[in-house]
Amino acid sequence: MTETVPEPARKTPAGPVLSVRDLSVSFRSDTRTVHAVDGVSYDLAPGEVLAVVGESGCGKSVTSMATMGLLPPTARIGGSIRLAGRELVGASEKELQKVRGKDIAMIFQEPMTSLNPVLTIGRQIGEVLRRHQGLSRKEARARAVELLELVGIPAPARRVDEYPHQLSGGMRQRVMIAIAVACDPAVLIADEPTTALDVTVQAGILEVLQSLRERLGTAIVLVTHDLGVVADAADRVLVMYAGRAVEQAPVYDLFASGRHPYTRGLLGAVLRPGGEGKRRLPEIPGLVPSLDSQPDACTFAPRCSRADDTCTGSRPGFRAVDREAGADAPHRAACWHPYADGETADPYADGEAAVSGEPTPVAAGREAPRTPARADDPGTRPDQEAGK
Ligand SMILES: Nc1ncnc2c1ncn2[C@@H]1O[C@H](COP(=O)(O)OP(=O)(O)OP(=O)(O)O)[C@@H](O)[C@H]1O
Ligand code: SF4
Ligand SMILES: [Mg+2]
Repeated sequence: MTETVPEPARKTPAGPVLSVRDLSVSFRSDTRTVHAVDGVSYDLAPGEVLAVVGESGCGKSVTSMATMGLLPPTARIGGSIRLAGRELVGASEKELQKVRGKDIAMIFQEPMTSLNPVLTIGRQIGEVLRRHQGLSRKEARARAVELLELVGIPAPARRVDEYPHQLSGGMRQRVMIAIAVACDPAVLIADEPTTALDVTVQAGILEVLQSLRERLGTAIVLVTHDLGVVADAADRVLVMYAGRAVEQAPVYDLFASGRHPYTRGLLGAVLRPGGEGKRRLPEIPGLVPSLDSQPDACTFAPRCSRADDTCTGSRPGFRAVDREAGADAPHRAACWHPYADGETADPYADGEAAVSGEPTPVAAGREAPRTPARADDPGTRPDQEAGK
């Protein structure tokens, strides 16, 4: 019979365990500056799972790496990242080393590149324990066996002495999770942890993450392209577009009533008839804008049929989608003309693409449509005027 893995007692902080404010990251080279992340803010409560979604290149991984303090030296970082009240932006590498692996840890998409092929998995898990908790070699090995059991690896007492190449992809990812949670970090960042795995293995990894959250109270930032994973695993969702946060909501609210046109485009393609079974983020027509500038405008405007002069003339702030709600409301969007709650003018319901690759009237130099900013805003859209 295997021993039960002891579950460490954790003091639950009253506020968020991770608080990111106005985070910006840019990469400078001789010829250009890439603004990969531009003013992203979010909070993560203890034990919460926050999914981060958005098209490729929108800054999900750069945000994760910034939070881990793992950006390359070419990166310029601004804003604030507070982990259990401790500021990480501007912290020295020595300070970050104390935090990484102990208070915050990360798992990546491809475990084989993160594991050392010439060390046993027990040794690799043990190293973290020896470094951060000062365990002896023998104690670290015993704890490694417990951790392998915690992440669902069968016969952990035997597996602990195996090398990464002796394990399947799913088992290697479980080992990565064991390393990540070895010191019981308050926050785990999982950047596409299941993307390289087949569907049945993916489900097992998600179960492990869920059980860690339930048993250890680990808060998780889950970066994923898979909307099925979001629906299954997340409490809240942060939608990113071109380096900016465009919507943030409890998962149910986002699926039931996404307010930002970009979110509607992502979800509409999945939820519309014939879209069932489509789990990964769909391709949306039109190009993601260059990240070379930080325009004082909505960067989604060239792909949005709701765009008007306001959208192209000023950057929408991140604010509550319901007028009555306060600034810290759970459902917020950065859009001048968000969809109203229950508004069904879905991009695909009436054949009109809210998300389009065609130039908007504004972009084409024509008069912009007047769109309602809120449910009770008397603004009308051209199709409503025409009685369509
Ligand atoms: N070291 C770097 N130097 C210069 N630009 C970078 C660097 N790392 C990332 N970028 C740029 O930052 C932007 C955001 O990249 P990031 O990897 O965060 O995207 P992502 O949302 O994680 O995409 P994916 O879904 O494909 O993983 C991209 O334009 C990328 O080319
Ligand atoms: S309505 Fe305007 S602000 Fe909102 S997403 Fe479209 S272009 Fe951006
Ligand atoms: Mg990425």
